[in-house]
Amino acid sequence: MTDVADRATAGFRREFGAPPAGQWAAPGRVNLIGEHTDYNDGFVLPFALPLRTVAAADRQEGARWTVWSELSGETIDFGADEVDEPGRVAGWGAYVAGVVWALREAGHDVPGARLAITSDVPLGAGLSSSAALEAAVLTALVDLGGLDLPAERQPRLAQRAENHYVGAPTGIMDQSASIRCRDGHALFLDCRSEGVEHIPFDLRGAGLAMLVVDSHAPHRHADGEYAARRKSCEAGAERLGVPALRDVTVDQLDTALARLDDPETRRRVRHVVTEDQRVLDTVALLRAGRVREIGPLLTASHVSMRDDFEITVPEIDTAVEAALAAGALGARMTGGGFGGCVLALVEADAADPVADAVTAAYAEQGFRAPDHLTVLPAPGAVRLT
Ligand code: GLA
Repeated sequence: MTDVADRATAGFRREFGAPPAGQWAAPGRVNLIGEHTDYNDGFVLPFALPLRTVAAADRQEGARWTVWSELSGETIDFGADEVDEPGRVAGWGAYVAGVVWALREAGHDVPGARLAITSDVPLGAGLSSSAALEAAVLTALVDLGGLDLPAERQPRLAQRAENHYVGAPTGIMDQSASIRCRDGHALFLDCRSEGVEHIPFDLRGAGLAMLVVDSHAPHRHADGEYAARRKSCEAGAERLGVPALRDVTVDQLDTALARLDDPETRRRVRHVVTEDQRVLDTVALLRAGRVREIGPLLTASHVSMRDDFEITVPEIDTAVEAALAAGALGARMTGGGFGGCVLALVEADAADPVADAVTAAYAEQGFRAPDHLTVLPAPGAVRLT
């Protein structure tokens, strides 16, 4: 298959009979650590994948947007009337219309445009294909229209598209990762201030590799469960009298837990508070160049997601256990949960044996065979041409 950017340009020419004015690429992400902390005003540490969504685009007259998607094979077309009424553009088109809507809502004079969209980010694997689509479209429209919207303000806007237009109550991590990550670095994001620090993450220099295993576990009730976790966290914060769970530190945790009488809320709160601390500990190790030592923090994060936040599924737990048994230095589910991918930090020469061990464990359990790839931190959204 040809390169994702070449396919976007070829698709644009075929659909619209002219070359595009430019191409904009935005990546999917994995989260190294810090799960379900973003909507609790806490800390996350994602990095961008070398898998990207590309928008080849050009301006067109009037407030009209015409969009071809390689994946669906459809071309959709909508104007300002449809955009201004959330719900009128559905399916994948809602992510595109949502970005136009959020820009207009924020007072920007959004240029009409034709876009051709291609992607290497697998759908439904928990690698943020939706944020990659939003970010590719957003950066294209910002550049085509010369809009005054610096990169640090773009994630909030893309998140608004997802929350209010598409209707998914997600936090700000995925859009921030897709837009703000840097090559060779993980993005340490404070989700309250939106301040970032680019943390060098030199896997190769440390003789290590990051294996990403796609569990292929079907997403079971993921949307409802995500919303329920978010509600529990908000209830916990309210009961504790803090603006968000970010405001509880690990030193205060025991006292805080003693004030909560619902055992489920206690578990949810314990996950978020300890997970924030694990992000800070991981960042401290990476800043000191002690990459190899982050393994146990990754595994502890997984245990917390499994036992306290209760968002893992048998396929995911099997992948983590098999990876650890085969010598991974640490392993955890990444992303929102109920399926998706597992990260395993491994010695550079152990990536294949660990992947084989996971595949064998899946066969033994009768699960559909997993896919895997090894990844290095890649750049965030860029204009390609
Ligand atoms: C999904 C959401 C993010 C974040 C993660 C869990 O990826 O889109 O905002 O909440 O789940 O960490």
